[in-house]
Amino acid sequence: MGGRHLSPPFLSVYGHITIDQIMAVDEFPPNSVSVNVLSKDMRIGGTGTNIAVTAASLGVPTALCGFVGNDFPKVFTDIITSKGVITDEFITMDGQCTAQALIVNDFNKEQRVFFYQGPQGSASDTNIVLKKNAGMSKYVHFSTGEPDYYINIMRSVKDRDRNIAFDPAQEIHKVWNREKFMTALKLSDIFFCNKYESASALKYTESSSLSEIKAKMAVCTEGAAGSEMYVNGKVTKIPVIKARRTVDNTGAGDAYRAGFYAGKYNGHSDIDSLIIGAATASFAVEETGALSNLPTLDMVMERADRYLGKL
Ligand SMILES: Nc1ncnc2c1ncn2[C@@H]1O[C@H](COP(=O)(O)OP(=O)(O)OP(=O)(O)O)[C@@H](O)[C@H]1O
Ligand SMILES: [Mg+2]
Repeated sequence: MGGRHLSPPFLSVYGHITIDQIMAVDEFPPNSVSVNVLSKDMRIGGTGTNIAVTAASLGVPTALCGFVGNDFPKVFTDIITSKGVITDEFITMDGQCTAQALIVNDFNKEQRVFFYQGPQGSASDTNIVLKKNAGMSKYVHFSTGEPDYYINIMRSVKDRDRNIAFDPAQEIHKVWNREKFMTALKLSDIFFCNKYESASALKYTESSSLSEIKAKMAVCTEGAAGSEMYVNGKVTKIPVIKARRTVDNTGAGDAYRAGFYAGKYNGHSDIDSLIIGAATASFAVEETGALSNLPTLDMVMERADRYLGKL
């Protein structure tokens, strides 16, 4: 798939590109019993897609680097390309199935999730090292996906003028282990996590606070309580920016990261860029699904404006 961008990427994003199947049942069935699904919705998802599509729609020249199977729906590809995402390293693997999240909610709002990793979960097996866009980008963001594959790319694109962001998300607890985590952290300039993920980061680094994390910058988001930036042992509290309404928090963290890159692309400081991230996330929570309420940069800046330059 050829990209229609002539400008080089500012940002390259690695992460899952996923088909989300979201279903509702009245009650979860016991073993060996089937139950009718009351509603079903199929959406594009995955950390890679969410961050790349949101960043691109804010005007950041963004490459999405990753793998899908040939079952990946054309309507989803159209969503990615219509936002101007650079797709020359968005690779379809013949004979493979795309990563898939099967999300089932019951009447009591209990949720069961089955996640099929797809080719991103074992990207080394493809024998295709996607590093062309990363090697031209100012920021390279690594979210969910195979640790060894990402560590290898981090090593080969590491450069004084390039920022590597490490954001293992929920896979920090299981897919990553101490040794791989420490290796990736050493290669990174920025570490992102949410408050649940920070527990594993502290465990792996044997630290009592994220301010001890050896990255130029660590960022921890705490849902509606806002977020914190840790630089050189100093903590800065980033305020939450009020949403018009809160419907669904899914993808808030991914939107926050995309907004951060939009801030950096437009020349803002790290702190102001995180505020722009929080403003972007405030739109993501207003509708169901991570990509259903994408704001323009103007809309984001209007919400961020009164906080900028003050922290
Ligand atoms: N209800 C809310 N209203 C406004 N902003 C919110 C709300 N919830 C989250 N945010 C913003 O989004 C940021 C990230 O949220 P959160 O910590 O929930 O991410 P996350 O757990 O990684 O989410 P996900 O993995 O689903 O993307 C927060 O720091 C905050 O700025
Ligand atoms: Mg998250």
